[in-house]
Amino acid sequence: MSTLIEQGKNSFMTNYKQFDIVIDHGEGNYVYDIDGKKYLDFVAGIATNSLGYGNQALKDALHAQVDKFLHCSNLYWNEPSIHAATKMVALSGLDKVFFCNSGAESIEASMKLARKAQKANGNDEKTEYISMMDSFHGRTFAAITATGQLKYQKGLNPLFPGVSYGKFNDIESIKALVTDKTCAIMVEPVQGEGGIKPAEQSFMTELRTLCDEKEIILIFDEVQCGIGRTGQFFAYQNYGIKPDIVCLAKGLGSGVPIGAIIANEKTAKGFQPGDHAATFGSNPLVTSAASVVLDVIGDDEFLADVTDKGMYLSEKLHALEIKHDFLTGVRGLGLMQGLVFDLKIDRLGIVMQAMEKGLLLVTAGSDVIRFVPPLTIKKEEIDECMTILEDILSEL
Ligand SMILES: Cc1ncc(COP(=O)(O)O)c(C=O)c1O
Repeated sequence: MSTLIEQGKNSFMTNYKQFDIVIDHGEGNYVYDIDGKKYLDFVAGIATNSLGYGNQALKDALHAQVDKFLHCSNLYWNEPSIHAATKMVALSGLDKVFFCNSGAESIEASMKLARKAQKANGNDEKTEYISMMDSFHGRTFAAITATGQLKYQKGLNPLFPGVSYGKFNDIESIKALVTDKTCAIMVEPVQGEGGIKPAEQSFMTELRTLCDEKEIILIFDEVQCGIGRTGQFFAYQNYGIKPDIVCLAKGLGSGVPIGAIIANEKTAKGFQPGDHAATFGSNPLVTSAASVVLDVIGDDEFLADVTDKGMYLSEKLHALEIKHDFLTGVRGLGLMQGLVFDLKIDRLGIVMQAMEKGLLLVTAGSDVIRFVPPLTIKKEEIDECMTILEDILSEL
């Protein structure tokens, strides 16, 4: 093991279990480690490096902003954040933006805004949340409570109060949990960490109707599935409905740390001056990056290409599934695909072998390997990924 990794192990807390490689730089849809070994990247910093590595417009925007200034706080306006927010409103069909720094913070902001909005609309009793089993919403206390997976909550009790969990894609199980106290329902249109599970159309439509009827705020967590990943700019655009609040992070900065929520006017009014804040929220460096991402990915042709490549990837995965008995399904939307394995298969072993052969992959849920490459991935690179994978699978 390299001395550098040993130094890392000596100085880092043990909450991560990193693979034994040190990434040095990236180019296109490949990354290189410090020994010069090249890896085709189907992880993209966990569905984050949406434009791959070295995008010229992104680099130019960041360099230009570094030369101007890095930070001014929310005591004042700055141009890049105004440009980014204006584009987000236009793309989303929603009305108002709040910027923060991460996915979990965007969840936290959405949960606070939902409560504040309910109070502002005279619904003082509406303080509770319903989220989904197998969901993932992040690691702050409210977000980890909303996360419907016990393994992430182990040892953290008592959790944030007032959260219950319904079955994803089962509207009756959600209806059974609704009470006069229900403030918001939270759902990932495509569950990511839970195993790449897209919501069904009827579930999404009925959720919207239920929330309208019962004055419940509908929150979509698009931290992983948003920003073009599914072939629509927002995953909810695949379903023809809108949430009251959408949570974003990951792909919004293509590698620069940023989070955001966008809400409709009625809900956004819940935040009045002083109600919520983040020192680095609206930071000009990160919003200058987001602005480029919004321009590039918000383009119809770019999105059509994501859909096309997503279908190509899905077809290739289906071909593998037909060939190997231990593969039991392919799920996903656009460039967010999951290959489902028989539980007896060692997925981590496959990920390690792939790394050895120059391909980065990551697992999801209890039985899935997920494919979340940069949205700039090329069909030839999808072929390259399939060749390496097939090499490994045929030896199992
Ligand atoms: C759907 C979803 N929500 C929230 C989060 C938390 O984001 P972050 O790690 O930026 O806090 C994640 C991270 O994987 C996610 O996938």
